[in-house]
Amino acid sequence: MRGAERLAADAAGIARAAELLRAGELVAFPTETVYGLGADARNGQAVARIFEAKSRPRFNPLIVHVASAEAAARLVDLPEAGQRLASAFWPGPLTLVAPRRADAEIAELVSAGLPTLAVRVPEHEVAQALLRRFGGPVAAPSANPSGRVSPTTADHVLEGLGDRIAAVLDGGPCSVGLESTIIGLDTGAGGTATLLRPGGLPVEAIEAALGAGLGVLPPVGGISSPGQLASHYAPSAPLRLAVTSPAAGELWLGFGQSPGADLNLSPSGDLREAAANLFDHLRRLDRMTGGRRGIAVAPIPQTGLGLAINDRLARAAAPRDRPG
Ligand code: TXA
Ligand code: MG
Repeated sequence: MRGAERLAADAAGIARAAELLRAGELVAFPTETVYGLGADARNGQAVARIFEAKSRPRFNPLIVHVASAEAAARLVDLPEAGQRLASAFWPGPLTLVAPRRADAEIAELVSAGLPTLAVRVPEHEVAQALLRRFGGPVAAPSANPSGRVSPTTADHVLEGLGDRIAAVLDGGPCSVGLESTIIGLDTGAGGTATLLRPGGLPVEAIEAALGAGLGVLPPVGGISSPGQLASHYAPSAPLRLAVTSPAAGELWLGFGQSPGADLNLSPSGDLREAAANLFDHLRRLDRMTGGRRGIAVAPIPQTGLGLAINDRLARAAAPRDRPG
């Protein structure tokens, strides 16, 4: 595979990076926290490539990066505490998790089927320039292969992912060097704010802005595996996996040749297409059954993105699982 382009963080480099994002390619870019591995958040197949490039064995929900708090407010419903944090700390090393708006044009895979979305307005001038030039939301996890530490220079990105991405925008070393602090916002009666991941913005500063203490989740596997903190999407209908001939009355989610399937993750058997369709199709089938009929899922090969697809299907099929 051809290596990644190293783009200078000038007008030409930013224009090229935006063009690659528009074409559904992966572009790593600097933020003040760490380098992100960006894809067009509206393009499910581009988002699927992120998981492929990182060799992530499961679909953790991703942070959506936008240029301004106004753009973020078009994607999620920010309760009052969230609005206060947004005006105090955006742009900056803060990510807010809030209910996703029904009209947000974000691929389902970005939030791994969850009804919430993580949004962030980075401060780094190169990230800002890219987001403005691109003019849309960019989904980005840290730009490292799964299981490795987050990159804080373009060289780190190229060492880990150089043969799997289209380009990296070189903005020099990141000033914060720690991932963003993630706060979950509950729209319920209390409107509580909960620390989901400690990071580059100190908890004390957040509590001072709120004039209240933060709720803290009980540790699950420690902060080295923050993805464990997100709960998992599961349809309300019972799910059976690796089914080649569904039972009478069951809805069938196909993959590859699946004659008579109610929906098909990818008729041609393309795992990237299947990943992009996974959560959307599960939701649609769930709505079709109204919880009254079960859903049978065709076998998915256990290779490449198939590992993450099967991981999520297994969690969705398990009896209601607790976060973690
Ligand atoms: O500083 C950062 O946050 C960097 C830069 C690139 O922005 N990004 C980053 O992304 O660290 P990542 O994917 O490595 O970590 C994002 C975390 C994951 O642990 C994920 O579980 C959590 O955010 N997350 C994303 N969406 C969520 C949601 N809807 N609910 C709960 N947690 C969520
Ligand atoms: Mg990470």
